[in-house]
Amino acid sequence: MELNAALEEIGRAESLEALQALKVRYLGRNGLLTQAMKALGQLSPEERRERGRSLNEWKERLERALEAREATLKEQALQKRLEEEAVDVTLPGLAFPSGGLHLTSLILGELLRIFRRMGFSAVEGPEVESEFFNFDALNMPEWHPARDMQDTFWVEFKGEPSFTIQGPFGEEVNSLGGAVLRTHTSGMQIRYMIRHTPPFRIVVPGRVFRYEETDASHEAMFHQLEGLVVGEGITMADLKGAIAELARGLFGKEGRVRFQPTFFPFVEPGVQFAMWWPERERWLELGGAGMVHPYLFRVVDDYRERLGLPRVYQGMTGWAFGMGVERLAILRYGIPDIRYFYQNRLSFLRQFKG
Ligand code: FA5
Repeated sequence: MELNAALEEIGRAESLEALQALKVRYLGRNGLLTQAMKALGQLSPEERRERGRSLNEWKERLERALEAREATLKEQALQKRLEEEAVDVTLPGLAFPSGGLHLTSLILGELLRIFRRMGFSAVEGPEVESEFFNFDALNMPEWHPARDMQDTFWVEFKGEPSFTIQGPFGEEVNSLGGAVLRTHTSGMQIRYMIRHTPPFRIVVPGRVFRYEETDASHEAMFHQLEGLVVGEGITMADLKGAIAELARGLFGKEGRVRFQPTFFPFVEPGVQFAMWWPERERWLELGGAGMVHPYLFRVVDDYRERLGLPRVYQGMTGWAFGMGVERLAILRYGIPDIRYFYQNRLSFLRQFKG
């Protein structure tokens, strides 16, 4: 056995397995060095001492060389792994596509924030409404020409006896005919008043439906925001103040409001209101409003009385408004067509991601 050749071989070992094989070959139970040591017995005592010493030295040197090579191989393996598994922190990240709020939700959120600041609470009502709350109780009986202003989707009850419209207290409301997809949020004025004692201030955001021939400014499904304030001594001036505050909230200090007389059966006097639109330097029509018609208070008190509740609306005054949410968004952001809102075209919707 040649020591230097063995040391060199160990120094060249390429892997831990190869190194282990060398260890067995030289130092194993039948290894070359082990055999040489076993052969010592055949030598004379003097030769044996001499040879034994040098074999021990060889053994030590082989062991050290094996250890050193093992350490080097392990270090190399670690380096290789670190290189392979390295993370390049300078690479650009992979962005997850994120969702966002719909343009309508963004505008509604903005409107609700403005009204909450003025002390209003937000409530919601059913989209399938009885004819009674959508029309009759709002001073629009079956024969009234004002019904023509709101083309209506009627809901049929064919073979569905369990399907009834719930009144404000969960009672069945069907004595006055059918059910409709609500054409405006004004029915909630009646529902809310029946259940609550004034004074109060509410806004009602919600989806409404009309049997429309759609065009750039008319959809068959759109959103309204209704407002209702009832109490003692509430006047038209309060209505103007609140709408003016809304204009300032939306358009800043330049926000201005214009009221023009108009007719709605459920208010008296009635107005339509427009806001000054600074970017385009023109007025934009937003909705209708007015003082709550005394007929509504009477209907509400009658209804309450039937349910055993006290009449609380005599001597009260109040105002209400209803505005188109999409129309406001259209004019504010310069959107050319209301039909873009609900076509689910992402290239459009992404422009307004909240
Ligand atoms: C009403 O719906 C009344 N309920 C508003 C009201 C409430 C008056 C309380 C008085 C007191 P009108 O039909 O004008 O009114 O609709 C109100 C607003 O809804 C309109 O000014 C317009 O902004 C929007 N709107 C009406 N029809 C459509 C439609 N087809 N598509 C999109 N927006 C519409």
